[in-house]
Amino acid sequence: MILKNFIVFEGIDGSGTSTQIEILSKKLPSTGVKFHTTFEPTESQIGKFLRTILKGDIKFDNRTLAYLFAADRCEHVFGENGIKKMCSSGTIVISDRYLFSSLAYQSASCGIELPKTLNSFFPLPEILFYFQINPEISLNRVLSRDGKNTEIFENLEYQKKTSSWYEKIIKYYETNKKNSENNMHIVKIDASKSIEEISQIIWTEVSKLPIIKL
Ligand code: ADP
Ligand code: TYD
Repeated sequence: MILKNFIVFEGIDGSGTSTQIEILSKKLPSTGVKFHTTFEPTESQIGKFLRTILKGDIKFDNRTLAYLFAADRCEHVFGENGIKKMCSSGTIVISDRYLFSSLAYQSASCGIELPKTLNSFFPLPEILFYFQINPEISLNRVLSRDGKNTEIFENLEYQKKTSSWYEKIIKYYETNKKNSENNMHIVKIDASKSIEEISQIIWTEVSKLPIIKL
């Protein structure tokens, strides 16, 4: 199922999604549309717990992580004032990461079956922006942004694995959309382009949404 007014940004760490969401949130007010930006892991208790695991403070089996990300998402989508309710009442919701992150990152450590099952009940966004980048470039960006305070997945080997899972997953959705009502609009972005060039591409796509009347 597609959730109208829902926009998702995805890509490996350092691909530039947060930067672009910030730029978009400065452009949207001129349209008068109601919008809300959000991210995963969320700021819920589950999301905060996930952040401590990501810092490496506590260790869990990779499958446990898959369940926790899905639980955090469940509240994010279906909880009180969650994404579903907001989008249905005419607010554009823009999320930095969503189920595609679980399909890519968790598949890289525990295979596709568990993340696929745990995430099969969530609605798909109206637009998915997928940031494609060489993991070496994006990891360098992360290292110059965060210094030594990197998280458990922020190493080249894991980023390469995740990137290759993202490619498979995006291809899957592109191939399967033709025969289904799941017509999620996928926009692949060359994330090695300049911040300005990327923000133009995003703006062109977002302005086409029926809810935005320029
Ligand atoms: P993400 O949210 O995907 O992890 P960020 O948006 O935080 O990535 O960007 C990571 C770093 O790379 C930041 O320091 C940001 O300023 C820089 N950056 C973002 N987009 C670009 C770009 N297109 N070109 C060069 N540097 C970028
Ligand atoms: P995030 O804070 O977006 O990292 P960054 O700003 O560096 O891109 O996400 C935290 C980490 O959590 C990131 O490495 C991706 C990972 N993650 C998963 O492994 N599975 C998920 O379902 C989500 C939402 C994030």
